[in-house]
Formats: sequence, C-alpha cells, structure tokens
Amino acid sequence: MKHIEKVLDEKIQGKALVTENKKDNTKKLFIESYGCQMNMNDSEIVAAILDKEGYNTTQILEDADLVLVNTCSIREKAETTVRKRLQKYNAVKKINKNMKVGVLGCMAERLKEKFLEEEKIVDLVVGPDAYKDIPNLLEEVHQGRDAVNVILSKEETYGDISPVRLNSNRVTAFVSITRGCDNMCTFCVVPFTRGRERSRDPKSILNEIQSMVDKNYKEITLLGQNVDSFLWFGGGLKKDFKKASEMAQTTAVDFAQLLDRCATEFPKTRFRFSTSNPQDMSLDVIHTMAKHKNICKYLHLPVQSGSNAMLKAMNRQHTREEYMELIDNIYKIIPEISLSQDMIVGFCGETEQDHKDTLALMDYVKYDFGFMFTYSERPGTLAGNKMKDDVPFETKKRRLQEVIDLQQEHALYRTQQHLGKIEEFLIEGTSKKDLNKWKGRNTQNTVAVFAKGDYKLGDFVNVKVEDCTSATLKGTVVGYSDNN
Ligand code: SAH
Ligand code: F3S
Repeated sequence: MKHIEKVLDEKIQGKALVTENKKDNTKKLFIESYGCQMNMNDSEIVAAILDKEGYNTTQILEDADLVLVNTCSIREKAETTVRKRLQKYNAVKKINKNMKVGVLGCMAERLKEKFLEEEKIVDLVVGPDAYKDIPNLLEEVHQGRDAVNVILSKEETYGDISPVRLNSNRVTAFVSITRGCDNMCTFCVVPFTRGRERSRDPKSILNEIQSMVDKNYKEITLLGQNVDSFLWFGGGLKKDFKKASEMAQTTAVDFAQLLDRCATEFPKTRFRFSTSNPQDMSLDVIHTMAKHKNICKYLHLPVQSGSNAMLKAMNRQHTREEYMELIDNIYKIIPEISLSQDMIVGFCGETEQDHKDTLALMDYVKYDFGFMFTYSERPGTLAGNKMKDDVPFETKKRRLQEVIDLQQEHALYRTQQHLGKIEEFLIEGTSKKDLNKWKGRNTQNTVAVFAKGDYKLGDFVNVKVEDCTSATLKGTVVGYSDNN
C-alpha cells in the first residue's frame, strides 16, 4: 500500500532539476517538472536550449533569474499542485524582483493566454511544441511584454537537440521517440495539450542513444504517449501516413523494427519503453522483445477498466476479451514477463458490476505493478463535455481502495516468485533506507536492495533473492553478470 501511494505521489511530484554547470554561463535557471516521464525529458530539452543562452541550472529558487515549471493537466489535482507552487514563487519574487517565471507543458497549452490573467506572477507561457521559441519569448519578456507561444506543430520532435541530463543517476536515461497522441480516449486531455501524433527520425534516435552509450549510460527508456504506434516514413503526422508517397511507405520503420535496431546496435545497453497501448501493441514487438536479451521483459500496458461498457465509453479501441487474449499471447511468448497497468475507477456511468469486472480482470492478469486513479473530469474532453461525472466521490474512493488493495496482493504474489532465484540487476543508486546498500532493477523492473561490497554504480550484478516485500526484493550479490 505504502509503495503504491508513493508511486502515485511521484507521478505528480515536482522536482528542481539540476545538471553539471558550465563556467561561462552566468544566468541561473530553476526548472521543475510535474507529471509524466515525457515532461521530465522535455525539461532536459528546455535546459539544453537555455544552456546555449547562458543559463546554468540551480536548486535554489531564491537565486534564480528564470523559474520554469513544466506542468501536467492529466488530473485536476496535478493542476492544483502547480497553482500552489506558483504561490510559493510569488513569495520569492517579492524579494527577487527581477526573477521571471514561465509555465511550460500541458497546463500552458490548455490555458494559453488565460494563464497570464489568472496567475499574475506568470511572464511566459510555452506549450510543448514551442520550446525552441523560448529565447525569443524571453527577449519579449525582458522588453516588458508578456510572451505566449502555444502553437502545436505537425513536425516538431526536438530530434536535433541533445537534452542536458538533469538529476541524472548517470546510469539510466530517457529518449523520446514519439510526440502527441491521436487516440482520443474520452477522459484524456493529452491529445489537446500535446497535439497530433508524430514520430522522430530513427537516425536521430540512434545518434542520441550512441551519445548516451559513449557517456557510459547503461539503460535507455524509449518514451512516447503510445510508443507502439511509432512509425517513421520521412516525418510529419501519423495520420498523414496513407498520403505519403509509395516510396516512403515501403521504407517506413515501425516500432518493432526500431526496437530491433536499437537492441542490435547496442547489445550491451538495456532497453525499456513506455507507454504501450493495447490497441497498437503488435505481437511483432513481443517477438522482438523475446529475441533480444537486452530488451527488458517488462510491459506497461494500461487498460483503464475491465468492463466492456466502460472501455467503450472511454473510446478504448479494444474489448476486455481482446485484451485478455493479448495478455495470453504475451505470457505464451515471454512467460517471465512482468506487466503493469493504469486503472481509472469511477468513470462516468461506472456501475458496481463494471467495477467488479475490473477486479476480475486484475485477478486474471495479476499485474506486477499498478498506477491507479479516480476519474477526474477534464474540461474540453469528450467525457467532460458530453458525459456525466456521476459516481459519488465516496464510491470512487472506496473502489480505488479496493483496486489498490488487490494490486498490493498481486504485487506480493509476483515479488515472491523471485525468491530463491539468482537474477541480474543493474545498479542504479544507493538505497534510500540504507546508505550501505545499492538498489537496482532486474529485467522485469522489480527493485532489489543488496549490500554494496566492491560493486559500483552502473555494474550489472547477479543477486540471489532471499526476501521480499510487495515492492522490493532483498538479496546478496554473488558476482558480476556477463553483461559488464
Ligand atoms: N499513453 C499515456 C497515458 C497518459 S495519461 C502514457 O504515456 O502514459 C497516464 C494515465 O493517467 C492514463 O493511463 C490514465 O490511467 C490516467 N488518466 C488520464 N486521464 C485521466 C483522468 N481524466 N482522470 C483520471 N486518470 C486519468
Ligand atoms: Fe491519453 Fe488515451 Fe492517448 S490515455 S495519451 S488519449 S492513449
């Protein structure tokens, strides 16, 4: 339970992001990121753009010349958190009068100019596709004008920018491969805030991975709202693929092919990816995962609900039965795979039976991990406009607790399956609870803690798993694995 709450917390918690600073840079940037991993990676892109403008990052808000907050709109709570944060900036700005404040990301895109009216402290509003315009917008701000750019793009993938890694553990990194989403789930604000789906040139993806490998990074997570839908055919919107020339169609690269290339070209590097959407998940991807030892055997496969009525109302493009068949096939091809879910409880019209269907689906799959939420109505979405948010708050809360409790049981069942085994873990950092212990993850994304010994950050080690909670394995290192 504690673990799950923590995971949920982390999903919306902001963090001041810092990197190693350059001597020649004289200005100070305080940048915080809320929401998904894509936002974290976007902040790294923004830091790279501002690095060229003479900004170093700082963790001290009071020292900042420029404060940027990369925001999330996915649930109302995420937006409230950001607004509270702006109040804190306000207090600091009273002392540091020259400090400029900018809002990036999904809230910027959703609220546009309104942000400037609603939150007087804000000088700059920049949507997810307009980060390259930040230097010009800052120029405007310094001339005393408010600056807004929330234009969504058909092409922008930031493929030409090498992100500055922020708060890096120097072992794992994110590489974005698609932007936007075309799926139009009725509850979701993302298609409105991040625009239509487009994929990034595989060449620039492979180049970025090469530069991370050169810096000794050991694990790369390929990111997108819907990675399985990746399709490179020369650039532009995915929805225009059919219109692309025949030539572009025959040379197109899909996600399974991209994954295969990454794993083949960088055999010592571990690969993960997130998020997969069941409707776009092809068994080619699963076969590619099975073929390569260095593609981690873990899939985040959000389902949102186990009820056909809810899936339909949510505009998810599959039924409960199709999802179960997909799960059967995945377990058949990779029996040791770990799976995780996102669930929304209390969506419009959800009955007790719909809720029971969700619990039954969870029993069927027995997910290793889960991210569970109560439905939060978002303005502008189809559900927000046309459907009634009619499940009482108390019922939502009770159902969420039932889903969390069941997930907790399944998580424990899954961690227990590792007991007694010797598994490979990549050392990613020091355990928060015990400074003498490392923490690392195995291929299934399960965390283990073990005594440090002579092993170093970034080593692949074999660990004998001796004990577990529902969230963490405990064990003893028995030696280096053959991946070093
Ligand atoms: N494909 C995306 C999904 C983004 S949103 C990805 O990369 O993760 C992440 C999760 O937030 C969704 O899977 C869904 O479970 C949850 N979510 C989205 N909109 C929501 C809403 N209006 N209320 C509650 N949860 C929501
Ligand atoms: Fe949102 Fe559905 Fe896309 S959850 S990000 S619209 S796949």
